Amino acid sequence: MKRVAILISGGGSNMVALLDSMTGDHPARPVLVLSNNVDAGGLEKARARGVKTAVVDHRPFKGDRSAFEQGLNKTLQAAKPDIICLAGFMRILTADFIDAWAGQMINIHPSLLPKFKGLNTHARALEAGVTEHGCSVHEVTATLDDGPILGQARLLIDPADTADSLADRVLRLEHQLYPAVMRRFAAGDKTEVCLP
Ligand code: GRF
Repeated sequence: MKRVAILISGGGSNMVALLDSMTGDHPARPVLVLSNNVDAGGLEKARARGVKTAVVDHRPFKGDRSAFEQGLNKTLQAAKPDIICLAGFMRILTADFIDAWAGQMINIHPSLLPKFKGLNTHARALEAGVTEHGCSVHEVTATLDDGPILGQARLLIDPADTADSLADRVLRLEHQLYPAVMRRFAAGDKTEVCLP
C-alpha cells in the first residue's frame, strides 16, 4: 500500500478529491496533509476525514527557502511517504528539495501544459484567445510547471467565459483528473490519463 502525503496552502479541494478517492482496492492511502499556512481551509477538511495534519509556517523563515524546506522534510520524513502530491501548494520549492523527492512528487496545474506555466492561467488563456483549455498533472522537476505530463483534462472555452467561470470549470476537471492520475501513479503506471 503506497503512503501519500498531500501539500496544500489553501482550501484543498484537490486534496479532498484525492482523499476521497483512496478507498477500497485503491493502491494508496493518505498518511499526512501538510500546509505552509496555518489558516488553510483544507486542514480542517483533512482532520474531518481522520487524516493526520501538520503545519510548517514559511513566514518565520523570512525567505530562507532551504531552512523552510528542512522543516518540511523533518515532518515529511516522519510520515515516510512514497508519493507527495502538491495540491494548491503555493510555495516555490528549491531544486535540492525536488531532487530529494525525485520521481515521487506530482503536481496539478490549471492549464494544458506546456501552455501557460505560472500564475493567472485562466485570464492568460482568455487573453491569448485559445479555444481549448484545461489542467495537467505532471511530475515535479526543478523547472517550474515543467516535468513529464502524467495526465491532462480538456474543455472548450465558451465565448461567455470569464477568468472566474473558467477557473470553476477547470477546477471541476482537476477533481476528476488528479485522482485518476494518482491512482495510476501509485500502481506504477505512467500511461498518460486523457480526459474526456
Ligand atoms: C487550483 O486552481 C489548482 O489548480 C491550483 O491551486 C488551485 C486551488 O486548488 N494548484 P485547491 O482548491 O486548494 O485544491
